[in-house]
Amino acid sequence: MLNGKHILLGIGGGIAVYRVAELARLLIKRGAEVRCVMTRSACEFVTPMTFEALTGQAVHNDLFDLTGERTIGHIQLARWADAIVIAPATAGLLARLAHGIADDLLSTIMLVAKAPVLLAPAMNHSMWHAEATQRNVETLTARGMQLVGPATGDLACGETGAGRLSEPESIHDALLPLLTTHALKGQQWVINAGPTVEAWDGVRTLSNRATGTLGALLAGQAAALGATVTLIAGPGTPPTHPQVQRIAVESALQMLAACLQAGSDTDVFIGTAAVSDFRFAEPLAGKMKRGDTQSMSIDLIANPDIIAAVAGMDARPVRVIAFAAEAEKHIENGRTKLLAKHVDAVVANDISNMGASCASGWWISRDQEIKLNAGSKHIFAAAIIDQITRLDR
Ligand SMILES: Cc1cc2nc3c(=O)[nH]c(=O)nc-3n(C[C@H](O)[C@H](O)[C@H](O)COP(=O)(O)O)c2cc1C
Repeated sequence: MLNGKHILLGIGGGIAVYRVAELARLLIKRGAEVRCVMTRSACEFVTPMTFEALTGQAVHNDLFDLTGERTIGHIQLARWADAIVIAPATAGLLARLAHGIADDLLSTIMLVAKAPVLLAPAMNHSMWHAEATQRNVETLTARGMQLVGPATGDLACGETGAGRLSEPESIHDALLPLLTTHALKGQQWVINAGPTVEAWDGVRTLSNRATGTLGALLAGQAAALGATVTLIAGPGTPPTHPQVQRIAVESALQMLAACLQAGSDTDVFIGTAAVSDFRFAEPLAGKMKRGDTQSMSIDLIANPDIIAAVAGMDARPVRVIAFAAEAEKHIENGRTKLLAKHVDAVVANDISNMGASCASGWWISRDQEIKLNAGSKHIFAAAIIDQITRLDR
């Protein structure tokens, strides 16, 4: 699958460097041509000789190496790559990349490179969860870089938690879609996001706590990966990537009409919006006066099920992904939704994610149930896009 592909392996200075030797071997075994760039710290853990012997190529580690610049300089190295894998992506390296600091060969190459980038972080779990690291990862994923891991388990420091370098096979699997689709070029994605708002009278409404953050992030990341993206946005949905076409809607009926029209004959539809289940049977004009009434009943009628309508239309998108916000039995309820609505996958998540800055959940498809990487919503969005791209293989 990697036949003839040029993979630049950027190696940061963490204890997991020794496992990257296995990764280099695997990529070569699958047909890739691998060139390694090590940071100064990486060379403290394993000598360049290991990677030179494995790849049969000179290892680059010095920005000011005259011989290196004469043979293949930093600009050519960046342009040579079909994809770049950074492993281990240390906390220090993530910080330098996020801030555009070009103080060594690898970070300088990264400012020039246009190729898709896969980050494989590895560090102590406290370093991973540190606000600074999470912010840096958000910045990098918002630029379209993809993330694999970190996995959860025993760490080299003797503690347990999120921070293990992903297995070489997982890194290889995450790399494939970046190369085969570059990454989503030519695909049309439609995403709905945010709450819907149902008017009762001229000033009062029925709505929910959804913010539209995750949908906007998904739209931004898909656009950064080359997809043509339409975002059908309920009120309050934040701004996103400048190339995303935005259709602003308010009510569930408006959202339904926009989703059916924009979603027709597309590649991927993702329903993240928290659509009001009901609307007012008889909305009022103007403003209703309170008067002396101590209690009142208002008739509500059910809104149409947007995700089921999209999944059921003749010109159905190739993939339809639903979200299920659940208070309990997340996996069970998610699977019920998957079957009832004839969608390709459901992202089941807890209602506590609504309005929060972090998110976690489960990816439920016909043959899989995967716990998705917990972290900021940027990271959650990246994990969801990764799963969607795997559906096609
Ligand atoms: C024994 C040892 C192990 C380390 N392991 C890690 C690690 O797994 N992940 C990490 O982010 N930093 C780790 N560090 C800290 C980095 O080596 C340090 O932040 C370094 O500046 C990162 O260099 P880089 O930005 O070139 O990757 C470790 C340091 C030592 C001394």
